[in-house]
Amino acid sequence: MIGKSVISLDDLSISQIRELLHKAQYIDSHRREVAHTCDGRVLATLFYEPSTRTRLSFETAMLRLGGKVIGFAGSQLSSASKGESIADTLKTVSNYVDVVAIRHPKEGAALVASRAASVPVINAGDGGHMHPTQTLADLATLQSRFGRVTDLTVGLCGDLMFGRTVHSLIETLCRFGNVHFVLISPDELKTPQYVLDRIDATPSCSYTEVKDLVSVIGDLDVLYMTRVQQERFFNEDDYLRLRDTYILDEDKLQLAKESMAVLHPLPRINEIAVEVDNDPRAAYFEQVKNGMLMRMALESSVVGDELPGYEPLEAK
Ligand code: CP
Repeated sequence: MIGKSVISLDDLSISQIRELLHKAQYIDSHRREVAHTCDGRVLATLFYEPSTRTRLSFETAMLRLGGKVIGFAGSQLSSASKGESIADTLKTVSNYVDVVAIRHPKEGAALVASRAASVPVINAGDGGHMHPTQTLADLATLQSRFGRVTDLTVGLCGDLMFGRTVHSLIETLCRFGNVHFVLISPDELKTPQYVLDRIDATPSCSYTEVKDLVSVIGDLDVLYMTRVQQERFFNEDDYLRLRDTYILDEDKLQLAKESMAVLHPLPRINEIAVEVDNDPRAAYFEQVKNGMLMRMALESSVVGDELPGYEPLEAK
């Protein structure tokens, strides 16, 4: 994985993803031992779009590994505001750092960045396209809740059109196989065809598309709620009409399995009532913690720094 850019999780093999899951577990129980793994390394976080979790966890991950961080949060204070291209920015920043995490509102921007950079580039979300490190956090949460990421019925609910976390998660779960997806959305926010094609191309996976959450919640092992992505709407009226289509509350949860896990990439607006936070099925703040651990695993791997005392999964 040394020197590798991660634009989509398709850039990693299944065994590399399993290794990252294993590393993250090791990091969680060996925080002091790994605290100098990336001494002397520098991460750049180039965030052209708002973020709380992704940017702060990328940065915390490098700091907890002993490295340092530079970057910008919002392009208005970078030379992008003067019209500098992504390629020129990456050719420049590559001189300063060992690894870059980039978030950008345009689909494909992270790929353009990786082609210009001479250091690994990690996609921290490109428009409505992909969010691979969120998927790593999601996989770690499924692994810890169920001991597996396969043989599950996974409901995805809300904005399935613009929700890049949904696209990344579906595509990756298809690679692991044996998942039935229940795609719950209004007609206007249905899953893009290229994502459905990926499910269709996977013999062990299948999907159903529905509009009603209540009628299917009892079938689900996982309910992945998503926010309606206001920033990707062209029309404010459509956003206001659709934003509260699905609100998960305790009444609806009573219809669900006791073992179901509720995931959400966050931030949430109204999709999950705050009362659900105390339900043992709420797993979304575990996802936040897993996001940091998986980014620690990924950053140390792409810069090529070994975690002290770590025994690779492949060696077991
Ligand atoms: N899950 C996620 O991407 O959150 P942020 O937008 O706060 O980074």
